[in-house]
Amino acid sequence: MKNKEYFSIDFKNNKFVFLDQTKLPLQETYIETDNYERIAEAIEKLEVRGAPAIGITAAYGLALSVKNIPGPEIQTAFSTAYERLKRTRPTAVNLFAALDLMQQTFDEIKTSNNIYDGLLSKAKEIHQDDIDKCENIGLNGLAVFKKKSRVLTHCNTGKLATGGNGTAFNVIKKGFEEGLVEFVYADETRPLLQGSRLTAFELERTGIPFAIQSDSMAAVLMSQGKVDFVIVGADRIALNGDTANKVGTYNLAVLCNYHNIPFYIAAPTTTIDREIATGAEIEIEYRNKKEITSINGNQITPDNYQVFSPAFDVTPSHLISGIITEEKVYIFPYNFIR
Ligand code: MRU
Repeated sequence: MKNKEYFSIDFKNNKFVFLDQTKLPLQETYIETDNYERIAEAIEKLEVRGAPAIGITAAYGLALSVKNIPGPEIQTAFSTAYERLKRTRPTAVNLFAALDLMQQTFDEIKTSNNIYDGLLSKAKEIHQDDIDKCENIGLNGLAVFKKKSRVLTHCNTGKLATGGNGTAFNVIKKGFEEGLVEFVYADETRPLLQGSRLTAFELERTGIPFAIQSDSMAAVLMSQGKVDFVIVGADRIALNGDTANKVGTYNLAVLCNYHNIPFYIAAPTTTIDREIATGAEIEIEYRNKKEITSINGNQITPDNYQVFSPAFDVTPSHLISGIITEEKVYIFPYNFIR
C-alpha cells in the first residue's frame, strides 16, 4: 500500500471533491459535490477535518453557493452560505479567516458579471497558499532535529488535514527524507482516532516506520527514553502562544515538561488569531456524547451516562518549546503582534 497516491480535498470540473475521512483507513471513498450544504455537513461530520483543510473547504463551499444563482439573488445566497459555513465548527480559526477572505473578495467583485469565477479563483488562491505554507513549515522544521530522532505525535496533521503535505506531519516527512527520523509513535487520539486511523494511514503511505499506541501510553514511552521530541499541529494560537489543539495535546505538553523532552507546535501563521491575547479566549468545541459512548458506531457504555466531550484543549505557551511556522521557528516568549 506504500506509495498509492491519495488526496483529501480538490476542486475538479466545477465540483468539490473530498476523501471521506470517517471511513479511513478501511475504505477510501471520494465524494464529489457542488452543494455548499453538503460541504457544511462534511465539515460538521469530520469527513473533512484539520484546521487548514476546513478553511479551504469552506472557501470552495462559498464559491459554489453562488454558482448558477441569478444576479439579484446572489447577495442572499452568499450571505446564507457564509452564515451556514461559519456555524460548522467553532475552534479552528482558519475557518473564519478563510470565510472572511471570501467575504472581502465578494465585496470587491459583487457588481461584476462573473462573481462565481472571482470567488472560485480566491478559493484556489487560499488553497495554493496553504500548499506553500506547508512546504515551508516542513523545511523550517528541520531545525528542530538535533539527531536521528524518535518522534511522538497526536491527532492528524498531514495531507488529510491541510491543503498541502501537512504541518507537524510534513516536518516528520521532511525529517525522514533527510535521514533524521528513526521512528514515529502515533497516539491513537481518542475519541475519533485521528491518530490510529489517519496518521497511521499517512505514515504507512509515506513509508515511515511507526507504531500506534493508546494516548495513555505516552508517559511510559517517555519514561523509557523512547521519545526525543513531540510535535503536533494547532487549531488556534493566541498572541501569547497559548495553543488549542486536539484534546490530549495539553497532557503531552505537561508530560514533556516533566521528562525534559522538547514539545513543538507546527502551524501556518493563518492559525494565529491576532484578535485574542491568550488561550482563555478560545472557544472550545464540545462534540456529541455519542462520540464517547460508542466507537465506530458500536455502543460501549449506556446512553444515560453524563459525558464530558471537548474536542480540543489549550496548552499554555510556557510549555511549548517552539512554534514552527512557514516564516520561522518562534520560541518562548511568544509575541505574534505585528
Ligand atoms: O477535530 P479535528 O480532527 O479537526 O482536529 C484536528 C486537529 O486538532 C489538528 O491537530 C489541527 O487541526 C492541525 S491540522 C494541520
